[in-house]
Amino acid sequence: MSTSSQCRVCGGTVTEFFDFGRQPLSDAFLKPSADFSQEFFFRLAVGLCGTCTMVQLMEEVPRDRMFNEDYPYFSSGSTFMRSHFESLAKYLLANELTADDPFVVEMGCNDGVMLKTIADAGVRHLGVEPSASVADVAASKGVRVRKSFFEESTAREILAADGPADVIYAANTLCHIPYMDSILDGVAALLKPTGAFIFEDPYLGEIVARTSFDQIYDEHFYFFTLRSVQEMASRHGLELVDAERLTVHGGEVRYTLAPKGQRKPTEAMRKLLAEEEAQNLTDIATLRGFGAKVERNRDDLLAVLRKAKDEGKRVVAYGATAKSATVTNLAGIGPDLVEFVCDTTPAKQGRVTPGTHIPVREPSAFTSDYPDYALLFAWNHAEEIMAKETAFADAGGKWILYVPDVRLV
Ligand code: SAH
Ligand code: TMP
Ligand code: ZN
Repeated sequence: MSTSSQCRVCGGTVTEFFDFGRQPLSDAFLKPSADFSQEFFFRLAVGLCGTCTMVQLMEEVPRDRMFNEDYPYFSSGSTFMRSHFESLAKYLLANELTADDPFVVEMGCNDGVMLKTIADAGVRHLGVEPSASVADVAASKGVRVRKSFFEESTAREILAADGPADVIYAANTLCHIPYMDSILDGVAALLKPTGAFIFEDPYLGEIVARTSFDQIYDEHFYFFTLRSVQEMASRHGLELVDAERLTVHGGEVRYTLAPKGQRKPTEAMRKLLAEEEAQNLTDIATLRGFGAKVERNRDDLLAVLRKAKDEGKRVVAYGATAKSATVTNLAGIGPDLVEFVCDTTPAKQGRVTPGTHIPVREPSAFTSDYPDYALLFAWNHAEEIMAKETAFADAGGKWILYVPDVRLV
């Protein structure tokens, strides 16, 4: 078991700071009849590059195992996220897509949650999405989609066919892609000199501040900071010119990169950079401290679940999130502690959770027979979910949360 590896951004040495142990593919929901002995596992561990400061996974899962025709995450499943991406699309239309016949490319457009607004506005666009399950849904909404992985060769083909892009956009996708050199060379080639590469991903500063350790799973390869994004951008003729904090998915940052020297870095970016420096995220001791908190949350959660079981209470989980694979597999939470997980995604219902094999059922299984406790795996959608499930609390039910610490509400 190695405790160092080579940085996928700069080739420097990555030093491990936390090991989550043996973990399955977070989105591989199995049929109950599957041969569980064939389930794929890897070692999920995170480290810090001593050279460019990028936090990243120690081991990479081959991309085709994760992103394929069975990919079950449909971005439009959350009302709140639909409006988040609609606002972003409107912002792009008003501020970045104002040239003559503008062109926007999105990596990881998923089911078209963002590009639908762009398509409806009649603006030239292309979604690049390798997972056929979601790409087909985007196409059915009138979004132009290319079913492939974005990488340098893809970018060059798009450039030859469609010309340069005013905006390249990626939400919760860039952090999924280990081969960063290829991506950023592709972006630099495809972008107009006046263009912008805008992406938003979970923010390491927030993960550490809130101990949201379940943001760490197979698909999330990188955990960005402004500092590490600056380092990786500068290796490809790009520059970080803006950064904005977002509350979605438990705390993200939206970064804007532009070709070097083309745009003036904003005051907001400088301010956030200064705040980040104060958090010492480039210090391995800070990250080891995070690891100690993860172990405490794991132990506290297990204690709550075991107590509920001893008292004969019913515990059901809410939201069969990819994130929850990290929690359940780290803590060893299986069907003995959690009866089932309810989820609105048809592709997940009737399956069992990766690694821990908890049945996934439709939301009516929850609402028709409220349990004593609901373990909120989709804690990043807490506001939306608690607002629609007030009857559960009215019936005396309690939510179990484990980020930033374990508590009942
Ligand atoms: N943008 C959406 C989807 C995020 S899920 C949202 O924010 O909700 C990540 C998506 O990235 C998946 O749909 C996956 O298939 C896609 N993806 C993974 N690697 C990719 C690559 N190299 N190029 C383009 N898309 C990729
Ligand atoms: P995410 O945290 O990665 O966005 O995944 C959210 C999961 O939770 C996804 O499988 C859909 C599910 N979900 C529900 O079951 N009910 C809801 O109200 C919401 C918002 C999500
Ligand atoms: Zn590095």
